[in-house]
Amino acid sequence: MLPPFELEQYLLRHEHQTRVSLCASGLETLSLSELMHGGNPEFAALWGQTGLDYTHPQGAIALREAIAQQYQTLNAQQIGVFAGAAEAILCTLQGLLNPADHAVVVTPCYQSLFSIPASLCQVSTVSLREASDWQLELDRVQSALQPNTRVIIINFPNNPTGALPSAAVVFELVEMARKRGIYLFSDEVYRLMEIDPADRLPPVATLYERGISVSSLSKAYGLPGLRIGWVAAQAPEVLSRAIDIRHYTSICVNSPSEVLASLALRDGEAILARNLRQMRANLPVMDRFFERMSDHCRWVRPRGGCLGFPRYLRAETTDALCQSLLEATGVLILPGSLYGSYSPHFRIGFGKKGCVKALGQFERFLNTL
Ligand SMILES: Cc1ncc(COP(=O)(O)O)c(C=O)c1O
Repeated sequence: MLPPFELEQYLLRHEHQTRVSLCASGLETLSLSELMHGGNPEFAALWGQTGLDYTHPQGAIALREAIAQQYQTLNAQQIGVFAGAAEAILCTLQGLLNPADHAVVVTPCYQSLFSIPASLCQVSTVSLREASDWQLELDRVQSALQPNTRVIIINFPNNPTGALPSAAVVFELVEMARKRGIYLFSDEVYRLMEIDPADRLPPVATLYERGISVSSLSKAYGLPGLRIGWVAAQAPEVLSRAIDIRHYTSICVNSPSEVLASLALRDGEAILARNLRQMRANLPVMDRFFERMSDHCRWVRPRGGCLGFPRYLRAETTDALCQSLLEATGVLILPGSLYGSYSPHFRIGFGKKGCVKALGQFERFLNTL
């Protein structure tokens, strides 16, 4: 059975106290009118003609073609559109894993990436370690493999550490999986959000015949409300099984969102440039904060995404710190305990406009302790 989704429950529990989130995982969102450029006539016509029938269970072909452009060697047949990466993860892993299987999950991670496989089969975790700058240690992945390992699950850029391995490490991981015919499931929702664009990794689905890339419009594009995510995979059974499962969940993507998603991808470069500008401007402010606050906390500077996972140096857990910061200021950061055994850490986000002001409040709060 699936356990409670701790992180979402925490956000809901503290919703009434939260005035500003300093832990958001996405970039600035767009309004409908910003996305529609104040009424582009071509779009207005398309919008008016959008039917509200059930749509294709794999996603509209026009949208899949637009998504496929991000995966140079893949085509629209190798893309399946889902209700956000969340549904893509659920359907793909449910379609892939049986009780006799074993999965290796790299942690810390977004809870679904661990809880879903753990509800289906035996799971071993390989933890990223702060002492190794959160880098992926391949020998530890190798040691976790078992004869029945069916999938290795990774997420880079990583939520919550911002870790990002080199392409050479990913190539080696692919070879490790290929030798044993293991699927490599890669949550790439923070791809395109590299601090240095030169660090961008190729999608795993383009590197490996059993590679599976999951992504969405929620993070880099700032459009989580569209609930558009996707799976890209060369192996046809991955998509067909995932779509089979989605007949039990959403059946198909909602058609207005498909139209808006196509529009967002058409203007994708401009949207990304706007969003990333904000994120990259915030990062040096974070750097200076950690320099000044080095008696309180330190971080391994993220290499991708808009999240970091600093260590608090003045207590063994950050539960009380997060709670008292929220009570005193209304600023929300997330305790590391939500990610399992990472209690001295906390999750902080730097993708949004409001984060600089919230960081000032956090600093003043720390200085009162
Ligand atoms: C690593 C990771 N995967 C998937 C998701 C879910 O994203 P979506 O909004 O596309 O469902 C999140 C959301 O925070 C995430 O951090």
